[in-house]
Amino acid sequence: MADAAQRRELATVDETEALGRELAADLRAGDLVVLDGPLGAGKTALTRGIAAGLGVEGRVSSPTFIIARQHRAGPRPGSIPLVHVDAYRLGGDLDELDALDLDSDLQQAVVVVEWGLGVAEHLTDRHLRVRLYRAPETETRTATWEWIGR
Ligand SMILES: Nc1ncnc2c1ncn2[C@@H]1O[C@H](COP(=O)(O)OP(=O)(O)O)[C@@H](O)[C@H]1O
Ligand SMILES: [Mg+2]
Repeated sequence: MADAAQRRELATVDETEALGRELAADLRAGDLVVLDGPLGAGKTALTRGIAAGLGVEGRVSSPTFIIARQHRAGPRPGSIPLVHVDAYRLGGDLDELDALDLDSDLQQAVVVVEWGLGVAEHLTDRHLRVRLYRAPETETRTATWEWIGR
């Protein structure tokens, strides 16, 4: 059964990253995180927090040409690898997403997919769905998140 959705106001980018670190504390290898929200909503910022929480190596960025970036586990005990996918340019093309072979990544990593709504959910039985909203003329974002699936 899915948990009830949780919700939080995020006044600054630091608060968004902090939420990512918090969410990471509950993530295990094999977990899928699907991020939804418009351009500039803070999906990459949240992923940066998740990466920090998982203790992975390498800087999280919004790559222009790379669709999936692998981050190795860092030296910290319990660090879990991260695969960061930006599905924006896939435009909902499921074949292209499948070509990334995220199934095998999910054996040992957490997979986070920006623009993943409607394209990535089939990868696992359950996923953490995080939605980020941005109201006009304010820096504050609103996040809602819930586990969807079994
Ligand atoms: N509360 C906030 N949460 C997240 N990002 C914020 C916030 N306030 C301002 N920002 C800025 O908005 C931008 C969000 O960018 P990014 O995380 O790349 O968004 P997305 O990946 O959703 O397109 C960054 O420049 C960040 O500094
Ligand atoms: Mg982004």
